[in-house]
Parts: sequence; structure tokens; C-alpha cells
Amino acid sequence: MKDGEGRNGKFIAVANMKGGVGKTTTVVSLAEALSANDESAKVLVIDLDPQASASVAIASDPILAQLIEQDRTFEAFLEERLIKDNKKINILDLVHRRVSGTWHQGRQLDMGLLPCGPHLRVVEKELIYELANTNHSITSIDGLITKLFQRDIIPLGSIYDFILFDCAPGISPVTEIAIRLSDLVIIPTIPDYLSVYGLNAFYDSIWKFKAKGLPSPKNPPSVLVTRMQRNVRQHREVLEGLQQGAAALNSPYRLFLSQIPTSAALVEAIMKDDGLTFTQKYTKEVISSILIPLVKEVIGAIG
Ligand SMILES: Nc1ncnc2c1ncn2[C@@H]1O[C@H](COP(=O)(O)OP(=O)(O)OP(=O)(O)O)[C@@H](O)[C@H]1O
Ligand SMILES: [Mg+2]
Repeated sequence: MKDGEGRNGKFIAVANMKGGVGKTTTVVSLAEALSANDESAKVLVIDLDPQASASVAIASDPILAQLIEQDRTFEAFLEERLIKDNKKINILDLVHRRVSGTWHQGRQLDMGLLPCGPHLRVVEKELIYELANTNHSITSIDGLITKLFQRDIIPLGSIYDFILFDCAPGISPVTEIAIRLSDLVIIPTIPDYLSVYGLNAFYDSIWKFKAKGLPSPKNPPSVLVTRMQRNVRQHREVLEGLQQGAAALNSPYRLFLSQIPTSAALVEAIMKDDGLTFTQKYTKEVISSILIPLVKEVIGAIG
């Protein structure tokens, strides 16, 4: 299949209002695993977090610095389109193709990256300021970002099979629209009481709240238990509660059957140097016990 010819790409947002729950670790490892799983699959990661964690894990420090310098970032795209009203800018020109330095079965993983830099926060603020100055309501920013996604980002689904958004913690306008337009929303959650308590607020803000003029999320959210420690009683109890909730009739959320354990090998893998094979990078144990089950479930959920 050639570029631009009718792929039916699926959009996956990895999001949680809560920080430090494993969103980025999930995005980076899942993106590489989806790519390794199928040599014809084209994968794109779009970093929506000004912390740029996914960008630096995928592209390495010097390459990311160069991309930010060249304005090949998500926030530069947002600024050009919505603040400078530049209609000519093409998002595909900003994507860094074949960015992964990981190899599998004699080929480089086919992964692209639209990175993010720290300036996203400023661009989002500028956008609100511009709109306020032109007598737009603050909420119209959501409408503008929705249109931008629908016009420029959703069409990337004809070129890429899987497009993953690494969302920032909190619910910025950009995060909210990415969630509302994605086919699958993965919510990584540490199985402790406070994390699960926060899930309710997140759910109510997006899935329960009927935002005027904005698309409703396509599906209920899919909770992925991360950093699970079986020897911690609270983790086991909270997991059980999540499982019972997901099994209930009309459950507002789905739950991945697989859990991501606390794993030093997984954490180390996503920051390893270029030039390794997928198996060298992730270790056989991480691949067979974490990544293969996760990929199967993700494909099952959106296929
Ligand atoms: N399965 C895991 N086992 C052990 N540590 C983990 C695991 N997943 C993530 N971590 C660690 O937890 C911290 C947060 O992970 P990560 O950056 O993926 O979370 P995040 O939700 O993207 O954070 P943020 O909200 O800041 O974007 C990191 O130090 C990471 O190495
Ligand atoms: Mg992150």
C-alpha cells in the first residue's frame, strides 16, 4: 500500500487528568509494539504534552532539539494555523518520519513523530488571549481546535494505521479534543484509592459532560492498570473493584484484562539507545508478558 492510499487509521489517545501514571511509558512502548507486530503497519505518535517526554524518548535529545529549532512541532503547527492563520502549512511536512532507532526482523520500525516542545503552554495561552481580543468566547477555542483536528489531523488516518496521542496531565483544550475524536481512549491508572478517585472526576468532565457544539467521545474510556504491584494489598483490592465495576451492566468504562506491572525493564527500555532490536530493547519477558497481550487487546478493541 502506498502513502495516502486509503488506510483506515485508528486514533488512540492515552490520557489521564492525573500525572505520573504511565501515559508516556504506555504510548512509547505500545507504539513500538504495534509497529513490531505488523511490518506493514505505519505508526505515528503525536506528542501533546509540553513536557515532551514521548518526543525525547522516541527521538533522543539532540534530534528533538533540532526539530524544535526547525519549528517541526505540534505547538508550531497550532500557532501557524490558529494564531497566524497560515493555511498553507502542511502537518505532514512537520512529521519526522522513520524516527525510531529500533530494529525488528531486519527493518527499522516504521514510526513517525510529531513532537511537542515546552512552548505549547504559551501557544495555548496566546490562543485564549487572541480570541478574547476578537470578542470570541473562551469556549470557542474548543471549536477552533476541533476544526483543526478534523481538517488536518484526522485525515492522517489515510496514511497511518495507528495514530497515538500522548496527552499532558490535566485537561487542556487540546487534550479534550484529542480524547473526543479518538477511536480508543486508554486511561493508565495506578491501582490505588486516590488514583481511582481521580478517575471519576476525569470521567465526569469528558464522558458525562455534554459540551455544547463539541463531538461526544466515540466510546467509553478503557482503563489500563499500570505500575501494578501484586504484593501490595491496596493494589489487589482496587484492581478487584475496577474489575467488578467493568463487569457491571452499563458500566461507564472498559477495563483491559492485562495489567502493566511495576517493571524496571519496561521503564529502562523506552530510554535505551538507538540501534537495538526490539527484543534487545524490551527483553523477551516484557514483550511476552506485557506488550503482546496489550497489543492484542488494543487491536481487538479498535479492529
Ligand atoms: N510499569 C512501570 N513500572 C515502573 N515504573 C513506571 C512504570 N510506568 C511508568 N513508570 C515510571 O513512573 C513515572 C511516570 O511515568 P510516565 O512518564 O510514563 O507517566 P505519565 O503519566 O506520562 O506522566 P506525566 O503525567 O508527567 O506525563 C516515570 O518515572 C516512569 O519511569
Ligand atoms: Mg507523560
